[in-house]
Amino acid sequence: QAFFRQIQRAAPPSPTKRHTKISVVGAGNVGMAIAQTILTQDVADELVLIDAKPEKLRGEMLDLQHAAAFLPRTKIRASVDYALTDGSDLCIVTAGARQIPGESRLNLLQRNVTLFRSIIPPLARYSPEAILLIVSNPVDVLTYVAWKLSGFPSNRVIGSGTNLDSSRFRFLIADHLDVNAQDVQAFIVGEHGDSSVALWSSISVGGVPILSFLEKQQIAYEKKTLENIHKEVIDSAYEVISLKGYTSWAIGYSVANLARSILRDQRKIHPVSVVASGFYGIEGGDVFLSLPAQLGRGGVLGVATVHLTDEEAHQLRDSAKTILEVQNQLGI
Ligand code: NAI
Ligand code: 2OP
Repeated sequence: QAFFRQIQRAAPPSPTKRHTKISVVGAGNVGMAIAQTILTQDVADELVLIDAKPEKLRGEMLDLQHAAAFLPRTKIRASVDYALTDGSDLCIVTAGARQIPGESRLNLLQRNVTLFRSIIPPLARYSPEAILLIVSNPVDVLTYVAWKLSGFPSNRVIGSGTNLDSSRFRFLIADHLDVNAQDVQAFIVGEHGDSSVALWSSISVGGVPILSFLEKQQIAYEKKTLENIHKEVIDSAYEVISLKGYTSWAIGYSVANLARSILRDQRKIHPVSVVASGFYGIEGGDVFLSLPAQLGRGGVLGVATVHLTDEEAHQLRDSAKTILEVQNQLGI
């Protein structure tokens, strides 16, 4: 006997309201931080976790399910079998090796490309209309690998890229100026990692370009101070990894924020890894790196052509070269 007695036949679901499904591959530190942040944001009706370790996976699933009384309703399921990801709208890939203290992201490449060969094809097969959001490192090259292995159009393959670096940058600038990080508009572009590029020329605080903001507030600055802030962004992950072994919370919020922009068709601009060939004189082959991109339900809707100084454009091309050199060794 049904627990609720119908007082009236339920209306059929509205054709405009659809079931939204997110799959997260890799239930490690990063995958779980993303999963738990997504749950707080009410962006998915269903969340599927995939990992290679069944016990750990079931433990994580149960632990999240037990928070149901405090969260918006989301069906949480988990499996080692990709069949469960069937019909996902968004597939987030976090599986793979992570850096040990002092190790660079690029060093993870061979191990994670091998994993991607077993992860991306089944994801693409079960969810041919999905958007792929790649997080595993080195994220830019692996986004290229996912694009190639999936056969998806490039607007549906995105790397989390420098969305995280830009958040670190905004935090450090805000901390330096004693303002709210949400009032700091600032982008780091290029490689997520050591060759990233800080776009100082377009930073503003509450709509005021940063250099006039500093003058108005009578804050003395030197180019060196600004460069140190960027260096601190680059060093951030190394520092956190040497202290706690991995990074998780900031990437969790960063990716949940991207998931929201995509699935709720927010059309917001995020610095994420997209096909960058042809932009700012980048050439030499298909390369994914972060540029300010508009995200919505169709994935990447466009790339904003922000003004770069000659020095910034030059640094960006160098960043592209670094990624291409690594990519060309893959033979994919
Ligand atoms: P972790 O070791 O905690 O988790 C990795 C998970 O992947 C494990 O649960 C493991 O069982 C799973 N896995 C391994 N092979 C698999 C397979 N074939 N299929 C399914 N699952 C598999 O590592 P953590 O800390 O979660 O990092 C994951 C990745 O995310 C690393 O590559 C790391 O460098 C990257 N990362 C990227 C960031 C970014 O901004 N793009 C930020 C932080 C980490
Ligand atoms: C991060 O930047 C390790 O890529 C990772 O936190």
